[in-house]
Amino acid sequence: MQDKMKKNLIAVLPGDGIGPEVVKQAVKVITYFNDQDLFPCELEEKLIGGTAYDAEGKPLPDDTLALAKKSDAVLLGAVGGTKWESLDYSVRPERALLSIRKELNLFANLRPAKVFAELAESSTLKTDIVSGVDLMVVRELTGGIYFGEPRGVQEEGGQRVGRNTLVYSESEIKRIAKVALEIASLRQSKLCSVDKANVLETTELWREIVEEEHKNYASVELTNMYVDNAAMQLIRDPNQFDVIVTGNLFGDILSDAAAMLTGSIGMLPSASLDEDRKGMYEPVHGSAPDIAGKDRANPLATILSVAMMLAYTFDRVELSDLINQAVQQVLKDDYRTRDINQDGMKLVGCEEMGDLVVGNLYNLASKG
Ligand code: IPM
Ligand code: MG
Repeated sequence: MQDKMKKNLIAVLPGDGIGPEVVKQAVKVITYFNDQDLFPCELEEKLIGGTAYDAEGKPLPDDTLALAKKSDAVLLGAVGGTKWESLDYSVRPERALLSIRKELNLFANLRPAKVFAELAESSTLKTDIVSGVDLMVVRELTGGIYFGEPRGVQEEGGQRVGRNTLVYSESEIKRIAKVALEIASLRQSKLCSVDKANVLETTELWREIVEEEHKNYASVELTNMYVDNAAMQLIRDPNQFDVIVTGNLFGDILSDAAAMLTGSIGMLPSASLDEDRKGMYEPVHGSAPDIAGKDRANPLATILSVAMMLAYTFDRVELSDLINQAVQQVLKDDYRTRDINQDGMKLVGCEEMGDLVVGNLYNLASKG
C-alpha cells in the first residue's frame, strides 16, 4: 500500500518507433494528476530498445536498468523496428524487454482485452460475438520455455539441433495461480487455466498446482482447458471467459488472439507485476515504425496503461477510474485516431487525442 502523499518515482522509457509519442500523451495524464496534487510523483526518463542500442551499444543500458530497479513503477512505450532486425539476437531491442522482465522479477503479466461498445464494429469478428467481451489474460512472464535451460542450437552428429526447454517449478506455478485467483475474485469470479496436460508433463503439474491453490479461493469457479481448445473457444465464444491463466508461451499467443477480438490493439494496456505489485506498464501494441513521428499513433493504450499503474501499483483505483471514464468519453464524443476511425467520426492525431483525454479529466474533476 502506497502512502498517498509520498513522492512516487516513475521510470519513463519511451523506446522506439511510436513509443515516444504515445508515452508523451500518457505523461500528460500523470502530470495532470501531479499538478492537481492528486498524485505526487517524479518522472525520470531513460533510453531502451533500438534507440538505446544506437546510443550505447546495448538495448538495456545499465543506467536504464538501475532506474527501473529503484522506481516504484515503469512506463514503457515500445521497442523494436525494422532498422534493428538484422542485429545479433543478443542485442536486439526485444532482448531489453526480456531482460527487464527477468531482472525485475515481473512474473505476472496482466493483459485485459475489453471491447469498447463504440468500437465493437471494428473487430474482424461478428459484432454480436465480441460485444461485451471483457476478459483478462494472466500470463506467466519470467519462466517456461522462454527462459528454460538447456537452450540453443548445437552441432550434433553432423547436423545442427535446436533445443528449448519448458520448465515450471511448483512455486512458480503457485504464485501466478494466486495472482490470477485473486484477480478473478475481484471480477466475475471465473478462472480458466490453460495447459496442454494431455501431452506435456510440465503442464500436468501446472494443472495440479492451480487446482491445489484454488482450494483457498472457494468463491472462484475454476475450469481447465487445453490450449488448442482455448484458441478455438476464444474465437467461437469469447464472452465465456473472465480470467485466463496460462504459461509464458501459451500466454503470448492467446493474448494476441484476445487482443484481436477487440479490433483495436491500439486500445489495449498491460501490466507486468512482481511479488510486491511493483510493475512495468506498457501498451500491447508494438513500435509501428511505419507511422512513427507522423502524429498518427493511438495513445489510448498507453494512457490506459497509466490507469492500470494507478490501480495495481499505487492502489489509486479512484484515479484509475477517472482515466477510464475520460477515455470512454472521447470515444462517446466520436474522436478517433486513424487505427480506429470509421465513417462520420472525428479524426484526430496522437497529440490531440492526449489533450482530449486530459480535457475530460478536467471536466470530470469540475463536475466533482
Ligand atoms: C510480447 C512480445 C514479446 C514476447 C517479444 C517482443 C519478446 O511478443 O510481449 O507479447 O514474446 O513476450
Ligand atoms: Mg507477444
